[in-house]
Amino acid sequence: MNSLRLGVNIDHVATLRQARYATMPESKNAEPDTLTAARMCERAGAQSIVAHLRSDRRHIQDRDLERLRQNIMTKLNLEMGNTPEIVDVALRIKPEEVCLVPEKREEVTTEGGLDVIAQRKELEPTIKRLHVSGIRVSLFIDPTLEQVDAAAELGVEMVELHTGKLANAFTEKIQKEELEQLRAAARAASESNLQVNAGHGINYKNIMLINQVPCLTELNIGHSIISRAMSVGLETAVKEMLAAMAKYPG
Ligand code: PXP
Repeated sequence: MNSLRLGVNIDHVATLRQARYATMPESKNAEPDTLTAARMCERAGAQSIVAHLRSDRRHIQDRDLERLRQNIMTKLNLEMGNTPEIVDVALRIKPEEVCLVPEKREEVTTEGGLDVIAQRKELEPTIKRLHVSGIRVSLFIDPTLEQVDAAAELGVEMVELHTGKLANAFTEKIQKEELEQLRAAARAASESNLQVNAGHGINYKNIMLINQVPCLTELNIGHSIISRAMSVGLETAVKEMLAAMAKYPG
């Protein structure tokens, strides 16, 4: 049993389907299927399924969420921007967890963490509505002490620390600095009684660095696992990541 849990983000299973079937959602040929992928991740030992419903519906569709909600065995972690339309979907679908992320139309993927300090007023009522529905809330933030403090003040259960800068660091010096930032933010969040998750850009190589961040409960990983699945199959790809995570000292 791993002490560090894995949530697999299946957005890119939907990306591949949409590439061919976006205009034919009812086609019996539409593939690959997000629920089949989610079940394979669960069979391989993943502890949650992560999906990002974007306003532009570029990958995950509402129907994906409905089927996942009804059929997965673990928990559903819905990543979403804080917009009225998407909040209404979350309240209807009722995932176990919501992770609020910033969302820009032009971006390829989530680029930075939420600015919880600047957006406090907009985040507060959404967090309240999600809590009233029994949904646990996470805020996806850059690993700074200021953002951790602001998140703790908002009464959320969790933060997800953005690991993208560490993943994309192109010098050892920057990598070291980012790792230190992550370590300090994780400690601070844990001291504020927040569950500490991490995600974005984590792969089979940099997992060794992520394993050096203390106080972590869960990693949310998508692109590298779905990519690896093309070579070894999805179950093996998930198992390989879990094996790397098993080295986490806790
Ligand atoms: N966590 C959050 C909050 C994200 O926005 C994403 C990307 O959708 C991920 C984790 C997964 O990132 P990656 O696909 O780079 O593993």
